[in-house]
Amino acid sequence: MKIKYPYSKPEILNRDIQEVTKVLRNGYLTQGKKIYEFEKEISKSFNSRYVSVCNSGTAALHMIYKAIGLNEKNGLMTTPITFLATANAARMCNAPVEFCDVDPETGLMTAELLEDALKNSQFKIKAVTIVHLGGRLCELEAISLICKKYKCILIEDACHAPGAEYLASDKNTHITGSCKYSDASSFSFHAIKHITMGEGGCITTNNEKIFNYANLMRNHCMQRGINNIKKSKNLSLPWYYEMEKLGWNYRADEVSCALGLSQLKRLKSNLKKRRFIAEYYYKNININNYFRLPHRNKNQLSNAWHLFPLSIDFIKLGKKRETVIKELNQYGIGTQVHYIPLFMQPYYKKNLKRKLKNALNYYYKTLSIPMYVQLKKTDLDYIISVLNKVLSN
Ligand SMILES: Cc1ncc(COP(=O)(O)O)c(C=O)c1O
Repeated sequence: MKIKYPYSKPEILNRDIQEVTKVLRNGYLTQGKKIYEFEKEISKSFNSRYVSVCNSGTAALHMIYKAIGLNEKNGLMTTPITFLATANAARMCNAPVEFCDVDPETGLMTAELLEDALKNSQFKIKAVTIVHLGGRLCELEAISLICKKYKCILIEDACHAPGAEYLASDKNTHITGSCKYSDASSFSFHAIKHITMGEGGCITTNNEKIFNYANLMRNHCMQRGINNIKKSKNLSLPWYYEMEKLGWNYRADEVSCALGLSQLKRLKSNLKKRRFIAEYYYKNININNYFRLPHRNKNQLSNAWHLFPLSIDFIKLGKKRETVIKELNQYGIGTQVHYIPLFMQPYYKKNLKRKLKNALNYYYKTLSIPMYVQLKKTDLDYIISVLNKVLSN
C-alpha cells in the first residue's frame, strides 16, 4: 500500500508558491535582498541579536564550530542520539568527537550525564553541543552551569525546536535561538523541518565574532570595499575583492529564502497545530504494557513537536521493529527511527571507549509516528486505530 501518512511532510501553501514565483519572475536568484529580509524576521521571531542564513543546518554547525576554534586539539562533546551532522561538522574541523549518554526516557543529554562524560573524556573538550531532540528542550540552565564549570562553550543544535520556549527557574521564558544560555544555535530548514527552504539553515547568536565569521565564510571569505579591505593598493579598481582565509559556498539563494520567509510567518500557528496533534495522541492512543507515549513536559511550550516518538518494548510485544514498521506500512502509515546512535556508525565506532547503555536502550525502543500540521482529526483517528491494533497482541 502507498504510504498515505509519512512520519513527516512539508506544508506548501499557495502563498508560499506565490512568494517563490515572485522571486523567479524578478530574476534576481541569489545574493539579493530576500536573505536579509529573512534574517531580520528570524532575528525578531527568535529574539536573537544576529542571524546568518546559509544553505543547510550542517553548514551552520560547521561555521559555528570553526568560529569557536574546534580543531585537532579542541574537541566536541555531544549526544549520540542525533543526525550525523551534529558530530560530522566537528570532524570537518578535524576535531575529536566524544559522545555523552542520554536520558533513557527522552533521549536528551542531561547535566548529570554531561558532567560524567566531561570528567571521563579522553580529549580536551572545547565545546558541548546539545540537541533538542524531536523538539523537546534540554535542561538548559543546569547544562550551561556544567559547561561553565568545565570551561566549555555551549552550542544548541536547535534544528528540531524552532519556537519552543524554555521556562527558566526565575519564571522568565526564552525562545529557542535566543541563546540565553549558549553561544550559538543552529537551525535546519530542510524539507521536513518546521520551516522549510527546501534545503537551508541558519545560525542565531548574540556573539558578534561568530556572526561576522559566518557572514564572511559562507561566501568564500570574499571581501570588498574600503570598510573591509584596509591596506590594499588595488581598492580603486571597481572589480577588486580579496580573500584572507579559506571559506565555503554556504550561500542560501533568494528562492529558498523567499520560501523560508513565507513559512516562518506560520511558525506560531503551526506549533499550535503540532501541540494539538500531540494532545490528541496522548488522549486517544490506548497505552498498554508494550509501549509508552513520549514523556510529558510540565511546560507544554517547551516542546516544538518535530517528532512524536513512541517507546516500544518489541521483545514484550513479541514482534520485531521491522515487522511493526511493515504492518503499519500495510495500512499506509510511515514511521522512522530517530536515530541510530552515532557511535554505532562504522566511522565513529572505532573510537568508542565507553558503552553508552541508555542511548542504546533508547534506540532499541524508539519509533516516530506521523507528526505534521496537515493531519486532521479524521487522519489521526485512522492512525490511532491502526496503532491500537498493531501495538497489541
Ligand atoms: C538534529 C539535526 N542536526 C543537524 C541537521 C542538519 O541539517 P541539514 O540537513 O539542513 O544539513 C539535522 C537535519 O536533519 C538535524 O536533524
